[in-house]
Amino acid sequence: MTMKRVLSGIQPTHDSFHLGNYLGAVKQWVELQHKHDAFYCVVDLHALTIETDPALLRKRSLASAAQLIALGVDPDKCTLFLQSHVSEHNQLGWIMECLAGFGEASRMTQFKDKSQKSGTDRTVVGLFTYPMLQAADILLYQADLVPVGEDQRQHIELTRDLAGRFNSRYGDTFQLPEAYILKAGAKINDLQDPTSKMSKSANSMQGVIEIMDTPEVNAKKIKSSMTDTGREVLFNEKEKPGISNLLTIHSALSGRSISELESEFAGKGYGDFKSTVADVVVDYLRPIRQRALELLEDESGLIAVLRQGAEKAQVVAEKTLASTYKNLGLVER
Ligand code: TYM
Repeated sequence: MTMKRVLSGIQPTHDSFHLGNYLGAVKQWVELQHKHDAFYCVVDLHALTIETDPALLRKRSLASAAQLIALGVDPDKCTLFLQSHVSEHNQLGWIMECLAGFGEASRMTQFKDKSQKSGTDRTVVGLFTYPMLQAADILLYQADLVPVGEDQRQHIELTRDLAGRFNSRYGDTFQLPEAYILKAGAKINDLQDPTSKMSKSANSMQGVIEIMDTPEVNAKKIKSSMTDTGREVLFNEKEKPGISNLLTIHSALSGRSISELESEFAGKGYGDFKSTVADVVVDYLRPIRQRALELLEDESGLIAVLRQGAEKAQVVAEKTLASTYKNLGLVER
């Protein structure tokens, strides 16, 4: 039996990934790479939807690759590459744009949220066509599964719709992908505003745990996270969103169940609990940050790994693009 294909991507828009990126997505990338044919890319072209200083974009793309490897994405077990290294992504992206309806694209909530925040005049067209490039990322590799956080569900649904539409118009060309979203960790919330998701674009970074932050900074953020009413450590997202979020984080990192943690902290206050969560998070992230910093010291080594990844990815991407062009009726060269 052939192995199932997996594809996912992450944007290099910031100096560090946050705990939501890890628990919602990258942790699953690491698990899936062992029994699947996995392709993971740093989607640097998607990051161009936010204007960034060129030196910073370059630095962040490499830092993203280093963090992925430090978090356990193993270039010997999967194909790790930069999106811009495989030009087929742009080529299939255009085809997806010609397939998607304007209304359909206008309904993407991420586009609506982001464009509302910055206003029409400051919203680039690329933000609107972003999900079609994402569809191309996925379909080029004929992915069966796409491990992501809850906020990406709608984009994966759109990808399925586009693949199905193409197949029924032009003949079977694309595998229909499925979102792979785990219940625990699918949405990690901000520590200061625990009803909103932890996000790289939050107004304040006080509630965002960054992988590359120092242990001291992260411990402080957890200890000063928003306090819910009451005093018992119980999982109840409505009444205790802050504590529930910390329970989810502890459980995902320690591998212990939420009910086990509730019993452990029965009769103890929020203060004790927060200190323990701070220890769990900091102990988990310390060696990862260290490893990422080491990897970044050898930039050419890192680029070589990405180049190899791109070469492997391109073999698959070329094949899909060729059959797509053929099925569309574009004349062979
Ligand atoms: P990005 O870079 O915003 O986020 C990367 C991954 O992290 C997940 N995530 C979260 N999960 C749980 N809780 C949170 N608070 C949280 N915040 C972020 C996201 O769901 C995502 O899985 N459009 C994608 C990038 C992309 C992509 C793709 C993904 C481009 N092409 C192809 C999959 C397949 C994005 O913006 O992710």
